[in-house]
Amino acid sequence: MRSDSWYGQGSRDGYIHRAWMRRGLPDSAFTGRPQIAIANTASDLAPCNSHFDQLAASVKNGVYEAGGIPLNLPVMSLGESLVRPTAMLWRNLAAMSMEELFRANPIDGLVLLGGCDKTIPALLMAAASVDLPAVVIPGGPMLNGTFRGRPMGCGTDVWKLSEEVRAGTLSEQDFLRSESSMIRSRGHCNTMGTASTMAIMAEALGMTLPGLAGTPAPDSRLLESSHQTGRWAVQLVQADRRPSQVITKASFHNAIVALAAIGGSTNAVVHLLAIAGRLGVDLDLQDFDRIGKDVPLLTNLQPAGEYLMEDLFRAGGPLAVLRQVRDLLDPSAITVTGEPLVSYLTDEVQIWDKRVISSREQPLQGHAGIAVLQGNLAPDGAIIKPAAATPGLLVHRGRAVVFDSVEDCRARLDDPDLEVDADSVLVLRGCGPKGYPGMPEVANMPIPQKLLRQGVRDLVRICDGRMSGTAYGTVVLHVAPEAAAGGPLALVRDGDLIELDVPNRSLQLLVDADELRRRSAEPEMINSLAHPLRGWEKLYVDHVGQADTGVDLDFLTGGSGAEVGRESH
Ligand code: FES
Ligand code: MG
Repeated sequence: MRSDSWYGQGSRDGYIHRAWMRRGLPDSAFTGRPQIAIANTASDLAPCNSHFDQLAASVKNGVYEAGGIPLNLPVMSLGESLVRPTAMLWRNLAAMSMEELFRANPIDGLVLLGGCDKTIPALLMAAASVDLPAVVIPGGPMLNGTFRGRPMGCGTDVWKLSEEVRAGTLSEQDFLRSESSMIRSRGHCNTMGTASTMAIMAEALGMTLPGLAGTPAPDSRLLESSHQTGRWAVQLVQADRRPSQVITKASFHNAIVALAAIGGSTNAVVHLLAIAGRLGVDLDLQDFDRIGKDVPLLTNLQPAGEYLMEDLFRAGGPLAVLRQVRDLLDPSAITVTGEPLVSYLTDEVQIWDKRVISSREQPLQGHAGIAVLQGNLAPDGAIIKPAAATPGLLVHRGRAVVFDSVEDCRARLDDPDLEVDADSVLVLRGCGPKGYPGMPEVANMPIPQKLLRQGVRDLVRICDGRMSGTAYGTVVLHVAPEAAAGGPLALVRDGDLIELDVPNRSLQLLVDADELRRRSAEPEMINSLAHPLRGWEKLYVDHVGQADTGVDLDFLTGGSGAEVGRESH
């Protein structure tokens, strides 16, 4: 046992490690029993994860029951709705701090409690780099909210209703009235946003007990599953099954199939790439398009559809979705149980509500998945989620309206004199990992008010930032390289023609090469770009990679393992 090298010594060092840990623990706690850390992202300032201490209590019972020693380990948490300038800026810091905590402590195995958007990615990145036996408990979505008799999707309806206010079809007062209806329980966003997506990604990668992801946060079965996961963590240590054995190219294949079938968040792309980078798995942006493109869309969930996560669970949960695409999954990928993921997709796994989960025979769309675009505007790629876009805009040519920052966009977008029409292509730059910094979720720029009044509800939008997983629209995201890293997005001028052709996976700036060369010799100043001088932002901007490789720091890719050679005293 790894922890034996702390507690198993007779020397002064063993004394020090044991003595401070006693506080009620019996002698038997130090005699080779698996020490299971519960990496707990509970925080009152990460409200989606505020119930995790209750889950941790159930995990503890399970760990004890199986003969292990459970240890609550509060780790850095990130509340997506609160943290500025964007929680994404801190994902790598959270992952780095978790990794070092896991490595530095006498831990044999890990239970990872995550929920709100960046928490499961950070936990998985950290666990992958340390490569200690680990299992995830997704903290679960909120219960359905309703407003005036119709379901209200967390996140998605904020975008929808705020556009209605700007269009003049909903009063500001009614908009504010809806606020307290949206969130009525503990748990993370109940749409198929990033948190729901990453919970299902954890399961599809094999990192949860199968069938757990999507259990609503207040559902008693989540406590039962937490207990079982605690038990399982002890067995995982005994089997010495590590993330590097579970998370393989085959399991990424399964995650990408799942991502398409559930119509999951575009943010999963950067998170999965970052996790792969930690394990040295050769996953690239094109894999998302190649593996996902023939996968049907099977869930009717907001933001693209109607229902919410509680409905998905009631209808059979993620396993019922995966059961429908079983033939597309890689049967060799195992889960933390040691059994293949596909072995859990038996005939007993059924769809209980076909309005929420469609059968393979009658999918909502034949080809879901995330499309990876390339062209002179995105030499290293950009992505779009066709399922959340307006079909008529997927092939489109229009004139650019360029914004150099979110603030610039907010200041000018509703100006009646802004030269914009229903064919325009809105371009927002300076929002990539380095430029902002942190690659915020701002790519779904609002529709200009004068167009909203004409009934326009979608425009082609292009950005080097990200989009909330709860948002929708014909939005080209993650343009790489970003403007701040010398990407051609910096060369676009108002009025340039841009051509989007999703079926042909192309994104072109229709300006001739000579003119682009001339512009690159004298680039326009983008005044909004970040130039931090100290602290994490400085480290981040100096070392962060681009969207096509997962936005990790260059010195954090790969792993260092769990070994620590030297004593502390
Ligand atoms: Fe936490 Fe959406 S704000 S999951
Ligand atoms: Mg988000």
